[in-house]
Amino acid sequence: MTSADLILKNANQVITLAGTSDRPLKGIDTNTLNIIEGGDVAVKDGLILEVGKDLQIGSDKVIDCTGKTVMPGFVDPHTHLIFAGSRENELGMKLEGKTYLEILAAGGGIQRSMGATRKADKAQLMTEAKKRLDTMLLFGTTTVEAKSGYGLNRDHEIKILEVIQALDETHPIDLIPTFMGAHSIPPEHKGNPDGFIDLMISMLPGISEMKLAEFCDIFCEKNVFTREQSERLLRAAQEHGLGAKIHADEIENLGGSDLAAEIGAISAEHLAVTNDMQMKKMGDAGVIGVLLPGTPYALMEEHYPRARAMIENGMALALATDLNPNCWTESMQFIISLACYNLKMTPEEAVVGATINAAHAINRSRVVGSIEAGKQADIIVLDIPNYEHLPYHFGVNHVETVIKKGDIVVYDSRPVF
Ligand code: NIG
Ligand code: FE
Repeated sequence: MTSADLILKNANQVITLAGTSDRPLKGIDTNTLNIIEGGDVAVKDGLILEVGKDLQIGSDKVIDCTGKTVMPGFVDPHTHLIFAGSRENELGMKLEGKTYLEILAAGGGIQRSMGATRKADKAQLMTEAKKRLDTMLLFGTTTVEAKSGYGLNRDHEIKILEVIQALDETHPIDLIPTFMGAHSIPPEHKGNPDGFIDLMISMLPGISEMKLAEFCDIFCEKNVFTREQSERLLRAAQEHGLGAKIHADEIENLGGSDLAAEIGAISAEHLAVTNDMQMKKMGDAGVIGVLLPGTPYALMEEHYPRARAMIENGMALALATDLNPNCWTESMQFIISLACYNLKMTPEEAVVGATINAAHAINRSRVVGSIEAGKQADIIVLDIPNYEHLPYHFGVNHVETVIKKGDIVVYDSRPVF
């Protein structure tokens, strides 16, 4: 009899998402999830060995999953993980009716976090970010995209990218780095956004050579960067081998999503005020919409992305936390719930958005995002009888066990890493 390092036995549901690695999923239904009822998963050498019912495989380590749901670890494809300090003071300003752009113009928002992040050394940034990663792992996230963007000059942006690299090497969670130096215009470049874009472009060769980032992102927004500036930076990034991502249509529509389609960006993020034509254009071009329902929630805004219209217009959708000092959550479970209740996504669409489509959005669909033989063993066990409980029973942590690259890193909801 073959033997495995670990077997997850008799789960009420194993959400395998088998056969979804080739392209981002559109038109999702229950069949897409490829559920095995009463299923087992065998793990060996950090990989998934076999998935099925009543596997005839032995192992010294067996976890009984009776009554539970087993699924791929969550992939969080959009975070601003590295920042110092916090901005709880802005809640009061929001309650008084101040908008995001007003808070930013008053020296709050990204500017304030930039001040704290520039002051922090690498050790402090590591300590603060590690705590967030620990929480993410406890909540079932096993792969995280992390953006720079609170340094806003050469030295501090590089410092942040190096912290991401160091965390990737030391923490069980895999980190995918994105260079987002063009997150805001720092005070020393006020009135000279084009000069700032030149500076960001001049950093690209070094970043690419040192493999400090896989993607480049920019905040295309009123009072931040224009569509033209975004195009200049992202095309330069592509020439240096970085994939393009763009924060588009979060508050005002500057045509960032048209740009995403035209340059073949891997994803466009936020999309709260995107129009139907732009959705169609992105759907046709294969740009994945990364939706961040935590952000309008934290901004107390009525405008949530129109997920249903995006799906009708042929877009594949992924979900992410946007973890940042404005929208601070580590929980993809909370995001799944918001996606269903506020974006009107189905539980199936939300599960796909938080796993395989999220993996597609960071070019990791061959490695993670589904439970299939040969894929990395990034698996979670949730104490719920079926996946619909994920959005339905919200505000708590359902994750009991987390397997990362075949190792048990969370057991009985407690860290063992
Ligand atoms: O994606 N919109 C730009 N960046 C972040 C917010 C950053 C911040 O407020 O610190 C976002 O929502
Ligand atoms: Fe963001």
